[in-house]
Amino acid sequence: MSDIIPTEFFTSPGPSPHANAAELRSRCPVHRIDVPPGAQAYAVLSNKVVEEALGDSRLSKQVENLPAEFRDKAVDNSLLVVGNLGFADPPRHTRLKEPIRRAFLPGTVARLASRIDDIVNDLIDAFPESGEIDLLSAFALPLPLTVICEYLGIPVEDRPLFQEWSYVLSQGPCTDGELKAASEEFSDYFTKLVAERRTDLRDDLLSAIIRARDEGVYSEQELLSTLLLLIIAGHKTVANMIGNGTALLLRHPEQLDMLRADPALIPPAIEEILRYEGSAAWASLRIAGEDMQLGGVDIPKGSFVHLSLSSAGHDPATYDDPETFDVTRSPNRHLSFGHGAHFCIGAPLARLQGQIAFSTLLRRLPQLALAVPPEEIAWLSDSSLSRGLEALPLRVGERLPR
Ligand code: HEM
Repeated sequence: MSDIIPTEFFTSPGPSPHANAAELRSRCPVHRIDVPPGAQAYAVLSNKVVEEALGDSRLSKQVENLPAEFRDKAVDNSLLVVGNLGFADPPRHTRLKEPIRRAFLPGTVARLASRIDDIVNDLIDAFPESGEIDLLSAFALPLPLTVICEYLGIPVEDRPLFQEWSYVLSQGPCTDGELKAASEEFSDYFTKLVAERRTDLRDDLLSAIIRARDEGVYSEQELLSTLLLLIIAGHKTVANMIGNGTALLLRHPEQLDMLRADPALIPPAIEEILRYEGSAAWASLRIAGEDMQLGGVDIPKGSFVHLSLSSAGHDPATYDDPETFDVTRSPNRHLSFGHGAHFCIGAPLARLQGQIAFSTLLRRLPQLALAVPPEEIAWLSDSSLSRGLEALPLRVGERLPR
């Protein structure tokens, strides 16, 4: 390990940051990196070391463990990183997870299947007669945003507000002033909604979260931060999975034909989409809680440690022929939903939405095709953690009944 690698090397949009990561990974599984500027920071690239790091309790997810010069700004600026399970170590993590854990178990979310099926079909019915759509804005974003709003029990008609706040509070780029303003608007909106709902508690997730607040499990800040995390994590990642996956399938027509011929391949195809072009390119914030080693590299206490799930998914030491997109790949154990204590709580809900979305799109739209040459499909460049498309222009063609 030698030079400090600039982040653009990994995140530069374009067909594939995977080639850049591959070259570095072949030299060493862990590299110095310059994110954030001025920090002692490392990127972990190999599947084996990423998996070990995801399960390593010496790596903290709490902002209190950030070096002082970063801590105060993080605490001031972001409702997202203070007060929810995604940014907490045990025992705080366990306490914050418990009130919402059951709602995301596979058996619980399976009950949403018929409602998700209706939402998917309604969105397809609403595609314009012109037959040209941007899959992201017409389908991939409204589907999971509607699902998470309905599941939480918050007004679906306010989707544009949630989308805007999610954008600012999770990915930027934006100024400190914009961050603060979005944080205040979000807090004001939900403080009012929570006060109203408290007089009319129901059988929804928002009511469960309010009960946890009233029983003293959550503080007010934790209630708001948990809602924000669920809204952000609950829609952008799923939208990117549908966008990335549809683009991959349309660029690999032989794989698409196999799926159309045998819909039983849809669950393994979703795992391959997640491995090959997973929507969480990096795991979130981790700080070395003590001097430690990862992949043979010394990591001083207080360092930022970035885990590349995207690079882990393309590691030839773990996957045969990793650059081949193969919907029949088996075994296909990947780290795209994380691993260990922070494994994605929403994975069953994400997989269910993916299965219904892909099977319905393929069945009802037999002529679905790219409306632009593949090289014109642009990746979002403004997010450090997620990997998704700016837009996916498609020609819809024949539309079969539901
Ligand atoms: C394809 C879709 C999704 C992907 C790729 C994804 C990916 C991930 C990953 C990689 C993590 C672990 C991050 C880390 O350890 O730093 C995570 C955590 C989390 N995800 Fe997801 N996610 C998806 C969908 C969802 C959905 C639908 C929800 C539900 C609302 C959700 C809620 C969460 C929460 C609350 C956490 C924090 C869990 C914890 O820290 O214990 N995710 N997700």
